[in-house]
Amino acid sequence: MNILLLGSGGREHALAWKMVKSHHCDQLFIAPGNAGTSAYGTNLAVSPTDFTALKTVCLDKKINMVVVGPEEPLVKGIYDFFQQDTQLQHINVVGPSAAGAQLEGSKAFSKKFMQRHGIPTAAYAEFTVSEYEEGKKYIQQHSLPIVLKADGLAAGKGVVIALSHTEALQAFEEMIIHKQFGEAGNKVVIEEFLKGIEVSVFALTDGEVYQVIGHAKDYKRIGEGETGLNTGGMGCVSPVPFMDASFMQKVEERIIRPTVNGLAQENINYHGFIFFGLMNVHGEPWVIEYNCRMGDPETEVVMPMLQTDIVALFAAMDNGTLIDANISFSEQSCATVMAVSGGYPGDYQKNISIHGLTEIVPDQSIIFHAGTKQTEHGIVTNGGRVLAVTSYGNNIPEAVATSKKVLEKISFEGIYYRKDIGFEFE
Ligand code: AMP
Ligand code: GLY
Repeated sequence: MNILLLGSGGREHALAWKMVKSHHCDQLFIAPGNAGTSAYGTNLAVSPTDFTALKTVCLDKKINMVVVGPEEPLVKGIYDFFQQDTQLQHINVVGPSAAGAQLEGSKAFSKKFMQRHGIPTAAYAEFTVSEYEEGKKYIQQHSLPIVLKADGLAAGKGVVIALSHTEALQAFEEMIIHKQFGEAGNKVVIEEFLKGIEVSVFALTDGEVYQVIGHAKDYKRIGEGETGLNTGGMGCVSPVPFMDASFMQKVEERIIRPTVNGLAQENINYHGFIFFGLMNVHGEPWVIEYNCRMGDPETEVVMPMLQTDIVALFAAMDNGTLIDANISFSEQSCATVMAVSGGYPGDYQKNISIHGLTEIVPDQSIIFHAGTKQTEHGIVTNGGRVLAVTSYGNNIPEAVATSKKVLEKISFEGIYYRKDIGFEFE
């Protein structure tokens, strides 16, 4: 079949890498893709949110399946757009309806959903601008730290963990009065801080049944030892040692199954990935957030760890056979280390030449491009997160060490990466 993949990051490079291994994949197109994805298919200069242009591509290229990488097209209703168009209805869109994407698109929606279905999550309250005074009172009597979240999509920046009431009140005012995150902050969720270890779990669901396709631990801060500003993710490891059978059973029974059942009960059409952002609090799983897509850089370890044909799984979601799928994982460990532009997550430059991309051992490491662009002068940087170097190893430290060796040979002006990915598992 012909497949169109939407997005341009490391996540999409990893999905493309995995999908072209499938004998079900004839031609792959990526809109817009990056310098890495062009090795696996044809990049098309079309925006993932330009649904009309995507329609033309689908008809021209005889696309049978659309795999949606980022959240924005999902929240904007790409699934529904395809369902409502008689020329596009037959296409298998991997991604939830706009209603389902609210799990990520609205923190207030997802918190209420979890409450309705008894899914463990931090206690919370939500406030709009007309409830500003009540919100301030709520903050003043809240235990510390206090977590504030802009309701809508804020490019991963809408969460503040305030260590004092003054800081929380300031953040609240910024979000709700000064519209720091625009409309995303029309509502603000204020919640309890959960102390524990974070882990991301990924499932594919057709809205009735699900399969867990992997998990990973992401390192979100820019600085070593998890210090400094939050980023999109500086590296990942998988499998995570505490994710044993007993913890996974709790995750499935208390979180994944009730989420999928809840969506079905509420007649919410969901046909895609669910990313469960969890906190392990003394051995008990709690939900920090849902996303309606794969994680980045989690995908850069989850796809290499997954041995099952991903395109066959996408097809199974469409023809009611997902329940019969046989999911298997590599026996090895995987780590990815993200190389970023100097200055990231603040301001950074683009169009810097990248050197040393070819010097890897193919069976051991994969260089996934995150923010890169092919130019007539070679491959250049095109984003904050530039490359995710994934490696296999007999254990996490070995996988991380191999990725770091590859990175020593790669250079671009300002390159930075964390050398302590997986530090707790050494
Ligand atoms: P989110 O955008 O919901 O993923 O939040 C960003 C990050 O903030 C998460 O990955 C956590 O590290 C942290 N976070 C969010 N909510 C909480 C919470 N209730 N307790 C502790 N940390 C949290
Ligand atoms: N790495 C976290 C995310 O994709 O949201």
